[in-house]
Amino acid sequence: MSRIHEALKKAEEEKSPTRSAPGAGPLDFAGDVAEPSPLGTLYPQMPGGAPTPEFCLGLEELRGRCAKPGWKMNPDYDVFSAKQTSFPCAEQFRTLRARLYRLREKNPIRILLVTSTLPGEGKTFVALNLALAITRQHERGALLIDADLRASRLHVRMGAPSAPGLSDYLNGRADEFSVLQADAKADLFLIPAGRFVPNPAELLANGLLKGLLDRVSPLFDWVILDAPPVLAVSDAGVLAGLCDGVIVVVRAGATAHDLVQTTLQEFRGKNLLGVVLNRAEREANYGAYSYGYGVDTK
Ligand SMILES: Nc1ncnc2c1ncn2[C@@H]1O[C@H](COP(=O)(O)OP(=O)(O)O)[C@@H](O)[C@H]1O
Ligand SMILES: [Mg+2]
Repeated sequence: MSRIHEALKKAEEEKSPTRSAPGAGPLDFAGDVAEPSPLGTLYPQMPGGAPTPEFCLGLEELRGRCAKPGWKMNPDYDVFSAKQTSFPCAEQFRTLRARLYRLREKNPIRILLVTSTLPGEGKTFVALNLALAITRQHERGALLIDADLRASRLHVRMGAPSAPGLSDYLNGRADEFSVLQADAKADLFLIPAGRFVPNPAELLANGLLKGLLDRVSPLFDWVILDAPPVLAVSDAGVLAGLCDGVIVVVRAGATAHDLVQTTLQEFRGKNLLGVVLNRAEREANYGAYSYGYGVDTK
């Protein structure tokens, strides 16, 4: 059965307050880093000054104002589902979650990009289950954004309406509240990809997404963007510039090593957090309760 080798431990060990040598430290933030905002803040200060009045609210108020379509999450894609006995990796998502919190103790990371080299490596799977892992904690809100405008899948897995969504917001055809969907109970929110657009690269770079992230991200513990693959299109590079950290999903035994290197090179020296090795085969020497940690940034 497949299992995820979450791989951020080495990132913690290798990160240094100064710029790392190439390839040595996956966590490499340029410039001064401020203290992260307190977790679970209900009335956050907006970056750069006073809060935008409409977003000076907490998750409950936000939930009250956005759509609650009643998702029908497909249990086949939810590693925490009670019906899901074939996924042994719920614990590995908890561990990934814990690593991210530890990384955040020293660096102000809140907005994550999940990308990969090629389609089908598990970006959507990781983004969704990481968000579920986060919101299984008490009063920890997560916002999932389907930023893969070319092959959006999050709404399918979550049984959610696909529109209005991000593309509609970026087109100026919908406001923040109309593209945000909320779970009725859990602190999980979703912005689906929205209607098909012929020009996703231009839309993602038009400045509106940055404004949206600036306004809504302080309301959430984490914001997770499900991105397109790196080698196919330029979108992931644009999106990475709007995020605090990049997680690269690698499908074990499938993606050629040199292609992975090309992908890592795209983010190395910027905001690469590490690699999640997905669908790795269980190895005898891991033991029953251990995971294959280790960030591959070479
Ligand atoms: N660890 C895993 N175990 C089992 N199935 C997985 C795992 N990761 C991904 N998959 C499955 O592989 C397929 C492709 O994953 P997906 O997340 O859609 O890839 P991507 O978003 O990178 O294109 C999906 O059917 C998904 O459910
Ligand atoms: Mg996907």
